[in-house]
Amino acid sequence: MVSLLDEHHGYLSLAGRSEIYGQAIEALLRPGDVVADLGCGVGVLGLQCLQAGAARAYGIDYSDAIELARETMARAGLSDRYTCIRNSTYRAQLPEQVDLIICDHVGYFGFDYGIVEMMADARRRLLKPGGRTIPQAVAPVVAGVSSAECLEQASWWAEDDFPEEYHWLNTYARNTKHTAMFKPDDLCSAPVTLGSVRLDREDGEASAMAGTLVATRDCRFDGLGGWFECEMAPGVTMTNSPLAEPRIDRNHVFLPCEQAFDVKAGDEIAVALRFRHDGEMIAWDVTPPGGAPRQRMSTWKSKVLTPADLVAEKDTPLSLNPTGTARRVILSLVDGMRSAAEIEALVMEQHNDLFPNPAELRRFVRRELGHAAQ
Ligand SMILES: C[S@@+](CC[C@H](N)C(=O)[O-])C[C@H]1O[C@@H](n2cnc3c(N)ncnc32)[C@H](O)[C@@H]1O
Repeated sequence: MVSLLDEHHGYLSLAGRSEIYGQAIEALLRPGDVVADLGCGVGVLGLQCLQAGAARAYGIDYSDAIELARETMARAGLSDRYTCIRNSTYRAQLPEQVDLIICDHVGYFGFDYGIVEMMADARRRLLKPGGRTIPQAVAPVVAGVSSAECLEQASWWAEDDFPEEYHWLNTYARNTKHTAMFKPDDLCSAPVTLGSVRLDREDGEASAMAGTLVATRDCRFDGLGGWFECEMAPGVTMTNSPLAEPRIDRNHVFLPCEQAFDVKAGDEIAVALRFRHDGEMIAWDVTPPGGAPRQRMSTWKSKVLTPADLVAEKDTPLSLNPTGTARRVILSLVDGMRSAAEIEALVMEQHNDLFPNPAELRRFVRRELGHAAQ
Protein backbone atom coordinates (compact mmCIF):
# COMPACT_ATOMS: atom_id res chain seq x y z
CA MET A 1 0.00 0.00 0.00
CA VAL A 2 2.82 2.38 0.81
CA SER A 3 4.32 2.05 -2.67
CA LEU A 4 0.90 2.57 -4.29
CA LEU A 5 0.44 5.76 -2.30
CA ASP A 6 3.99 6.88 -3.05
CA GLU A 7 3.49 6.23 -6.77
CA HIS A 8 0.32 8.28 -7.01
CA HIS A 9 1.58 10.97 -4.68
CA GLY A 10 4.48 11.24 -7.14
CA TYR A 11 2.15 11.87 -10.13
CA LEU A 12 0.01 14.35 -8.26
CA SER A 13 2.90 16.32 -6.81
CA LEU A 14 5.04 16.43 -9.97
CA ALA A 15 5.65 20.15 -10.33
CA GLY A 16 3.96 21.69 -13.34
CA ARG A 17 2.06 18.60 -14.51
CA SER A 18 -1.38 19.51 -13.13
CA GLU A 19 -1.04 23.02 -14.57
CA ILE A 20 -0.24 21.66 -18.03
CA TYR A 21 -3.17 19.23 -17.90
CA GLY A 22 -5.33 22.12 -16.65
CA GLN A 23 -4.38 24.23 -19.69
CA ALA A 24 -5.06 21.33 -22.06
CA ILE A 25 -8.42 20.66 -20.43
CA GLU A 26 -9.31 24.33 -20.71
CA ALA A 27 -8.44 24.23 -24.42
CA LEU A 28 -10.24 21.01 -25.33
CA LEU A 29 -13.02 20.27 -22.83
CA ARG A 30 -16.49 21.63 -23.60
CA PRO A 31 -19.13 22.12 -20.89
CA GLY A 32 -21.17 18.96 -20.42
CA ASP A 33 -18.58 16.66 -22.03
CA VAL A 34 -18.35 13.01 -21.05
CA VAL A 35 -14.76 11.93 -20.33
CA ALA A 36 -12.84 8.63 -20.21
CA ASP A 37 -9.88 8.81 -17.79
CA LEU A 38 -7.62 5.98 -18.99
CA GLY A 39 -5.30 4.43 -16.39
CA CYS A 40 -6.92 6.87 -13.97
CA GLY A 41 -4.96 5.89 -10.85
CA VAL A 42 -6.61 7.76 -7.99
CA GLY A 43 -8.65 9.76 -10.50
CA VAL A 44 -6.83 13.08 -10.62
CA LEU A 45 -7.20 13.85 -14.34
CA GLY A 46 -10.90 12.94 -14.44
CA LEU A 47 -11.42 15.04 -11.32
CA GLN A 48 -9.77 18.00 -13.04
CA CYS A 49 -12.20 17.51 -15.96
CA LEU A 50 -15.23 17.44 -13.63
CA GLN A 51 -14.01 20.62 -11.94
CA ALA A 52 -13.62 22.23 -15.37
CA GLY A 53 -17.21 21.48 -16.42
CA ALA A 54 -17.42 17.87 -17.62
CA ALA A 55 -20.81 16.30 -17.00
CA ARG A 56 -19.36 12.97 -15.99
CA ALA A 57 -16.24 10.83 -16.23
CA TYR A 58 -15.39 7.13 -16.38
CA GLY A 59 -12.13 6.25 -14.63
CA ILE A 60 -10.56 2.95 -15.71
CA ASP A 61 -7.62 1.34 -13.91
CA TYR A 62 -6.69 -2.27 -13.25
CA SER A 63 -4.69 -1.59 -10.09
CA ASP A 64 -5.73 -1.11 -6.46
CA ALA A 65 -5.54 2.63 -7.09
CA ILE A 66 -9.05 2.45 -8.54
CA GLU A 67 -10.42 1.64 -5.06
CA LEU A 68 -8.77 4.80 -3.75
CA ALA A 69 -10.33 6.74 -6.64
CA ARG A 70 -13.74 5.25 -5.81
CA GLU A 71 -13.50 6.24 -2.16
CA THR A 72 -12.14 9.70 -3.05
CA MET A 73 -15.07 10.40 -5.36
CA ALA A 74 -17.55 9.12 -2.79
CA ARG A 75 -16.09 11.36 -0.07
CA ALA A 76 -16.17 14.31 -2.47
CA GLY A 77 -19.83 13.65 -3.29
CA LEU A 78 -18.93 12.90 -6.92
CA SER A 79 -19.88 9.22 -7.16
CA ASP A 80 -22.81 10.03 -9.42
CA ARG A 81 -20.48 11.84 -11.87
CA TYR A 82 -17.28 9.75 -11.66
CA THR A 83 -17.74 6.04 -12.34
CA CYS A 84 -14.80 3.82 -11.36
CA ILE A 85 -14.17 0.72 -13.47
CA ARG A 86 -11.63 -1.81 -12.26
CA ASN A 87 -10.37 -3.32 -15.49
CA SER A 88 -7.81 -3.08 -18.24
CA THR A 89 -8.67 -0.27 -20.64
CA TYR A 90 -8.46 -2.93 -23.38
CA ARG A 91 -11.34 -4.87 -21.82
CA ALA A 92 -13.45 -2.11 -20.33
CA GLN A 93 -16.76 -1.32 -21.97
CA LEU A 94 -18.61 1.93 -21.30
CA PRO A 95 -22.39 2.48 -21.40
CA GLU A 96 -21.85 5.42 -23.79
CA GLN A 97 -19.16 6.86 -26.03
CA VAL A 98 -17.23 9.82 -24.66
CA ASP A 99 -16.31 13.28 -25.97
CA LEU A 100 -12.81 13.36 -24.49
CA ILE A 101 -10.17 10.78 -23.62
CA ILE A 102 -7.50 11.85 -21.15
CA CYS A 103 -4.49 9.96 -19.85
CA ASP A 104 -0.90 10.32 -18.71
CA HIS A 105 0.70 7.25 -20.23
CA VAL A 106 3.47 9.34 -21.68
CA GLY A 107 6.26 7.33 -20.05
CA TYR A 108 9.86 8.57 -19.91
CA PHE A 109 10.45 8.40 -23.65
CA GLY A 110 6.97 9.23 -24.93
CA PHE A 111 5.76 5.89 -26.18
CA ASP A 112 7.48 3.46 -23.83
CA TYR A 113 4.50 2.98 -21.48
CA GLY A 114 2.22 1.79 -24.30
CA ILE A 115 0.33 5.04 -24.92
CA VAL A 116 0.12 4.55 -28.69
CA GLU A 117 -1.73 1.24 -28.56
CA MET A 118 -3.81 2.21 -25.53
CA MET A 119 -5.05 5.44 -27.13
CA ALA A 120 -5.67 3.76 -30.48
CA ASP A 121 -7.84 1.08 -28.89
CA ALA A 122 -9.77 3.59 -26.74
CA ARG A 123 -10.21 5.97 -29.66
CA ARG A 124 -11.70 3.23 -31.83
CA ARG A 125 -14.05 1.80 -29.20
CA LEU A 126 -14.83 4.47 -26.62
CA LEU A 127 -14.62 7.85 -28.36
CA LYS A 128 -17.46 9.54 -30.24
CA PRO A 129 -16.69 10.39 -33.89
CA GLY A 130 -15.05 13.82 -33.76
CA GLY A 131 -14.12 13.37 -30.09
CA ARG A 132 -10.90 14.80 -28.63
CA THR A 133 -7.87 13.38 -26.80
CA ILE A 134 -5.34 14.68 -24.29
CA PRO A 135 -2.49 14.27 -25.20
CA GLN A 136 -2.81 14.73 -28.97
CA ALA A 137 0.64 13.63 -30.14
CA VAL A 138 3.90 12.41 -28.70
CA ALA A 139 7.44 12.68 -30.05
CA PRO A 140 10.59 10.92 -28.88
CA VAL A 141 13.74 13.06 -28.69
CA VAL A 142 17.29 11.68 -28.55
CA ALA A 143 20.74 13.12 -27.92
CA GLY A 144 24.20 11.63 -27.55
CA VAL A 145 25.27 10.80 -23.99
CA SER A 146 28.79 10.85 -22.59
CA SER A 147 28.51 10.16 -18.88
CA ALA A 148 30.62 7.98 -16.60
CA GLU A 149 27.59 7.37 -14.40
CA CYS A 150 25.44 6.14 -17.30
CA LEU A 151 28.23 4.02 -18.73
CA GLU A 152 28.69 2.39 -15.36
CA GLN A 153 24.97 1.54 -15.24
CA ALA A 154 25.33 -0.32 -18.52
CA SER A 155 28.62 -2.05 -17.76
CA TRP A 156 28.77 -2.92 -14.07
CA TRP A 157 27.83 -6.58 -14.65
CA ALA A 158 31.18 -7.02 -16.39
CA GLU A 159 33.31 -5.07 -13.94
CA ASP A 160 36.37 -6.84 -12.55
CA ASP A 161 35.14 -6.79 -8.97
CA PHE A 162 31.79 -8.36 -9.94
CA PRO A 163 31.51 -12.19 -9.68
CA GLU A 164 32.70 -13.58 -13.01
CA GLU A 165 29.72 -15.93 -13.25
CA TYR A 166 27.52 -12.89 -13.94
CA HIS A 167 29.65 -11.15 -16.53
CA TRP A 168 27.52 -12.62 -19.34
CA LEU A 169 24.70 -10.31 -18.20
CA ASN A 170 26.68 -7.41 -19.62
CA THR A 171 25.03 -8.19 -22.98
CA TYR A 172 21.63 -7.88 -21.32
CA ALA A 173 22.56 -4.56 -19.71
CA ARG A 174 23.68 -3.18 -23.08
CA ASN A 175 20.29 -4.08 -24.51
CA THR A 176 18.26 -2.58 -21.69
CA LYS A 177 16.42 0.72 -21.47
CA HIS A 178 17.87 2.27 -18.31
CA THR A 179 16.25 5.00 -16.23
CA ALA A 180 18.28 8.21 -16.04
CA MET A 181 18.02 11.85 -15.04
CA PHE A 182 20.37 13.77 -17.30
CA LYS A 183 22.06 17.06 -16.65
CA PRO A 184 22.95 19.15 -19.72
CA ASP A 185 26.64 18.23 -19.17
CA ASP A 186 25.86 14.53 -19.73
CA LEU A 187 24.87 15.25 -23.33
CA CYS A 188 27.33 15.38 -26.21
CA SER A 189 25.11 16.37 -29.13
CA ALA A 190 22.19 18.67 -29.76
CA PRO A 191 18.86 16.84 -29.35
CA VAL A 192 17.02 15.55 -32.40
CA THR A 193 13.28 14.95 -32.51
CA LEU A 194 12.96 11.69 -34.38
CA GLY A 195 9.33 11.96 -35.43
CA SER A 196 5.91 12.28 -33.93
CA VAL A 197 3.02 9.89 -33.40
CA ARG A 198 -0.52 11.25 -33.46
CA LEU A 199 -2.72 10.03 -30.62
CA ASP A 200 -5.88 11.87 -31.64
CA ARG A 201 -6.34 10.09 -34.97
CA GLU A 202 -5.11 7.13 -36.99
CA ASP A 203 -1.50 7.79 -37.89
CA GLY A 204 -0.35 4.93 -40.08
CA GLU A 205 1.05 3.25 -36.95
CA ALA A 206 4.49 4.88 -37.33
CA SER A 207 6.98 2.72 -35.49
CA ALA A 208 10.34 3.38 -37.13
CA MET A 209 12.23 6.67 -36.97
CA ALA A 210 15.74 7.81 -37.82
CA GLY A 211 17.97 10.87 -37.55
CA THR A 212 21.54 12.11 -37.33
CA LEU A 213 23.28 13.43 -34.21
CA VAL A 214 26.20 15.85 -34.48
CA ALA A 215 28.78 15.63 -31.68
CA THR A 216 29.30 18.92 -29.86
CA ARG A 217 32.61 17.96 -28.21
CA ASP A 218 35.46 15.46 -28.31
CA CYS A 219 34.46 12.64 -25.98
CA ARG A 220 33.49 9.02 -25.51
CA PHE A 221 29.99 8.34 -26.94
CA ASP A 222 28.23 6.03 -24.48
CA GLY A 223 24.75 5.83 -25.93
CA LEU A 224 21.52 7.70 -26.48
CA GLY A 225 19.61 9.82 -24.03
CA GLY A 226 15.87 9.88 -24.64
CA TRP A 227 12.94 12.00 -23.46
CA PHE A 228 9.64 13.25 -24.91
CA GLU A 229 7.88 16.26 -26.31
CA CYS A 230 4.16 15.92 -25.99
CA GLU A 231 1.49 17.97 -27.72
CA MET A 232 -1.30 18.19 -25.16
CA ALA A 233 -3.66 20.60 -26.97
CA PRO A 234 -3.13 23.33 -29.56
CA GLY A 235 -0.48 25.60 -28.02
CA VAL A 236 0.00 23.43 -24.91
CA THR A 237 3.06 21.17 -24.67
CA MET A 238 4.66 18.99 -22.01
CA THR A 239 8.27 17.82 -21.99
CA ASN A 240 10.78 16.32 -19.59
CA SER A 241 13.73 17.58 -21.66
CA PRO A 242 16.78 18.26 -19.46
CA LEU A 243 17.40 21.30 -21.69
CA ALA A 244 13.92 22.85 -21.50
CA GLU A 245 12.36 25.41 -19.21
CA PRO A 246 9.69 24.83 -18.13
CA ARG A 247 9.78 21.03 -17.94
CA ILE A 248 8.35 18.33 -15.75
CA ASP A 249 10.99 16.42 -13.81
CA ARG A 250 10.05 12.97 -15.07
CA ASN A 251 12.87 10.48 -15.64
CA HIS A 252 14.67 10.07 -18.95
CA VAL A 253 15.93 6.90 -20.61
CA PHE A 254 19.49 5.89 -21.34
CA LEU A 255 19.92 3.50 -24.28
CA PRO A 256 23.54 2.30 -24.17
CA CYS A 257 25.75 1.37 -27.09
CA GLU A 258 27.03 -2.19 -27.25
CA GLN A 259 30.50 -0.63 -27.29
CA ALA A 260 31.24 3.02 -26.40
CA PHE A 261 33.33 4.83 -29.04
CA ASP A 262 35.24 8.11 -29.37
CA VAL A 263 33.85 11.08 -31.29
CA LYS A 264 35.19 14.50 -32.21
CA ALA A 265 33.15 17.71 -32.29
CA GLY A 266 31.31 17.83 -35.62
CA ASP A 267 31.22 14.04 -36.15
CA GLU A 268 27.91 12.65 -37.36
CA ILE A 269 26.32 9.64 -35.67
CA ALA A 270 23.36 8.03 -37.43
CA VAL A 271 20.61 6.69 -35.16
CA ALA A 272 17.48 4.68 -35.86
CA LEU A 273 14.71 3.70 -33.53
CA ARG A 274 12.02 1.05 -33.81
CA PHE A 275 9.38 0.40 -31.19
CA ARG A 276 6.28 -1.65 -30.59
CA HIS A 277 3.12 0.30 -29.94
CA ASP A 278 2.39 -1.64 -26.75
CA GLY A 279 5.60 -0.14 -25.32
CA GLU A 280 7.13 -3.59 -24.77
CA MET A 281 10.07 -3.47 -27.18
CA ILE A 282 12.48 -0.78 -28.30
CA ALA A 283 15.34 -1.29 -30.74
CA TRP A 284 18.03 1.35 -31.33
CA ASP A 285 20.78 1.38 -33.93
CA VAL A 286 23.80 3.63 -33.62
CA THR A 287 26.30 4.05 -36.45
CA PRO A 288 29.60 5.56 -35.28
CA PRO A 289 31.43 7.99 -37.58
CA GLY A 290 34.29 6.95 -39.84
CA GLY A 291 32.81 3.74 -41.21
CA ALA A 292 32.75 1.73 -37.98
CA PRO A 293 30.09 -0.98 -38.02
CA ARG A 294 26.54 -0.12 -37.01
CA GLN A 295 25.65 -1.24 -33.47
CA ARG A 296 22.20 -2.77 -33.11
CA MET A 297 20.68 -2.90 -29.64
CA SER A 298 17.20 -4.07 -28.63
CA THR A 299 15.28 -4.80 -25.46
CA TRP A 300 14.33 -8.05 -27.21
CA LYS A 301 17.91 -9.21 -26.62
CA SER A 302 17.52 -8.71 -22.86
CA LYS A 303 14.06 -10.20 -22.51
CA VAL A 304 14.09 -12.99 -19.95
CA LEU A 305 12.17 -15.76 -21.66
CA THR A 306 10.16 -17.87 -19.23
CA PRO A 307 8.30 -21.15 -19.82
CA ALA A 308 5.11 -19.05 -19.91
CA ASP A 309 6.52 -17.05 -22.87
CA LEU A 310 7.41 -20.21 -24.71
CA VAL A 311 4.15 -22.13 -24.29
CA ALA A 312 2.44 -20.28 -27.16
CA GLU A 313 5.24 -21.42 -29.51
CA LYS A 314 4.84 -25.14 -28.77
CA ASP A 315 3.34 -27.31 -31.48
CA THR A 316 2.95 -30.39 -29.25
CA PRO A 317 -0.29 -31.12 -27.29
CA LEU A 318 -0.55 -29.05 -24.10
CA SER A 319 -1.60 -30.22 -20.65
CA LEU A 320 -2.35 -28.25 -17.49
CA ASN A 321 0.47 -27.53 -15.06
CA PRO A 322 -0.20 -27.75 -11.27
CA THR A 323 -1.41 -24.13 -11.14
CA GLY A 324 -3.77 -24.67 -14.07
CA THR A 325 -5.08 -27.88 -12.52
CA ALA A 326 -5.77 -26.11 -9.21
CA ARG A 327 -7.46 -23.25 -11.03
CA ARG A 328 -9.70 -25.64 -12.97
CA VAL A 329 -10.71 -27.53 -9.82
CA ILE A 330 -11.55 -24.32 -7.94
CA LEU A 331 -13.49 -22.70 -10.77
CA SER A 332 -15.44 -25.90 -11.46
CA LEU A 333 -16.86 -25.53 -7.95
CA VAL A 334 -18.27 -22.07 -8.73
CA ASP A 335 -21.81 -23.06 -9.67
CA GLY A 336 -24.02 -20.14 -8.68
CA MET A 337 -24.99 -21.91 -5.45
CA ARG A 338 -21.89 -22.36 -3.28
CA SER A 339 -20.47 -19.51 -1.22
CA ALA A 340 -16.75 -18.71 -1.07
CA ALA A 341 -16.49 -20.33 2.36
CA GLU A 342 -18.14 -23.53 1.07
CA ILE A 343 -15.83 -23.70 -1.95
CA GLU A 344 -12.78 -23.11 0.22
CA ALA A 345 -13.87 -25.83 2.67
CA LEU A 346 -14.47 -28.29 -0.19
CA VAL A 347 -11.07 -27.64 -1.73
CA MET A 348 -9.27 -27.97 1.60
CA GLU A 349 -11.11 -31.22 2.36
CA GLN A 350 -11.20 -33.00 -0.99
CA HIS A 351 -8.39 -31.47 -3.02
CA ASN A 352 -5.70 -30.75 -0.45
CA ASP A 353 -3.17 -32.52 -2.66
CA LEU A 354 -3.28 -29.64 -5.19
CA PHE A 355 -0.47 -27.80 -3.41
CA PRO A 356 2.01 -29.17 -0.86
CA ASN A 357 1.36 -26.28 1.55
CA PRO A 358 -2.23 -25.94 2.87
CA ALA A 359 -1.83 -22.25 3.78
CA GLU A 360 -0.71 -21.48 0.21
CA LEU A 361 -3.66 -23.48 -1.17
CA ARG A 362 -6.07 -21.45 0.95
CA ARG A 363 -4.51 -18.17 -0.26
CA PHE A 364 -4.70 -19.42 -3.85
CA VAL A 365 -8.40 -20.35 -3.53
CA ARG A 366 -9.23 -16.88 -2.17
CA ARG A 367 -7.22 -15.12 -4.87
CA GLU A 368 -8.75 -17.16 -7.69
CA LEU A 369 -12.29 -16.58 -6.42
CA GLY A 370 -11.54 -12.87 -6.08
CA HIS A 371 -10.38 -12.74 -9.71
CA ALA A 372 -12.91 -14.98 -11.38
CA ALA A 373 -16.13 -14.99 -9.34
CA GLN A 374 -18.71 -12.42 -8.30
C1 LIG B 1 1.14 6.90 -14.99
S1 LIG B 1 -0.14 6.36 -13.93
C2 LIG B 1 -1.24 7.70 -14.11
C3 LIG B 1 -2.29 7.77 -13.04
C4 LIG B 1 -3.23 8.97 -13.17
N1 LIG B 1 -3.90 9.00 -14.45
C5 LIG B 1 -2.48 10.26 -12.99
O1 LIG B 1 -2.31 10.96 -13.99
O2 LIG B 1 -2.05 10.56 -11.89
C6 LIG B 1 -0.81 5.07 -14.89
C7 LIG B 1 -1.94 4.27 -14.28
O3 LIG B 1 -2.49 3.48 -15.33
C8 LIG B 1 -2.77 2.18 -14.86
N2 LIG B 1 -2.72 1.32 -16.07
C9 LIG B 1 -1.64 1.07 -16.85
N3 LIG B 1 -2.01 0.36 -17.93
C10 LIG B 1 -3.35 0.14 -17.81
C11 LIG B 1 -4.31 -0.55 -18.59
N4 LIG B 1 -3.99 -1.13 -19.76
N5 LIG B 1 -5.58 -0.60 -18.16
C12 LIG B 1 -5.95 -0.01 -16.99
N6 LIG B 1 -5.08 0.68 -16.20
C13 LIG B 1 -3.80 0.76 -16.61
C14 LIG B 1 -1.77 1.89 -13.79
O4 LIG B 1 -2.29 0.97 -12.86
C15 LIG B 1 -1.57 3.30 -13.18
O5 LIG B 1 -2.43 3.50 -12.08
